[in-house]
Amino acid sequence: MSRSKRLVFASNNKNKLNEVSAILGPGFPVSGLGSLGFEGDIPEPFDTLKDNALAKARFVYRNYKCDCFADDTGLEVEALGGLPGVRSARYAGTDQDSLANVRKLLGELEDREDRRAWFRTIIALILDGREYIFEGMVSGKITANQRGSSGFGYDPVFVPEGYSETFAEMDPEVKNQISHRRAALKKLAEFLKTQ
Ligand code: IMP
Repeated sequence: MSRSKRLVFASNNKNKLNEVSAILGPGFPVSGLGSLGFEGDIPEPFDTLKDNALAKARFVYRNYKCDCFADDTGLEVEALGGLPGVRSARYAGTDQDSLANVRKLLGELEDREDRRAWFRTIIALILDGREYIFEGMVSGKITANQRGSSGFGYDPVFVPEGYSETFAEMDPEVKNQISHRRAALKKLAEFLKTQ
């Protein structure tokens, strides 16, 4: 069976969809879950980024039988043994927001000298029924206070290696060039070109 070139990205997030389309380019058209008539969120119940990304891709493949990929991202902090990691979105509790997550992180790291941290994105791809995993990372450190107002999530407290600004102080274009997501998507794009 020859595969259709269209790929479904297991997300309804328009910003992510735009970023993904820009990186993969016109040779690999991508549509979101909405194109399948699915408007909800696919559960991410597992303890690792890889298991969650795979679960989302498998959900789409099982229900819609199309080539697809899914991502999951976490901020991993050395001094916290890799937390918040897979729990990044709900670190301060399921009913809390990004600000609460960031405050909790700064609280946990108070007086800690080791501020090393990294964002990690895992992408799970299902192509012709076969599964592939891609990983992207950006290393850096957690600041003592929040700085900057662009971006989302932990951006105001993360300074990538080789820079002095936080992700939230940077031009979003610069962040997107060096981000964990970009690194994982570039690997996906390189792989797709070989198929
Ligand atoms: P997701 O898997 O992309 O939904 O990311 C899970 C969580 O990780 C988000 O809710 C954010 O808290 C955090 N996160 C992911 N990517 C970024 C980023 O680029 N900057 C800051 N926080 C991020």
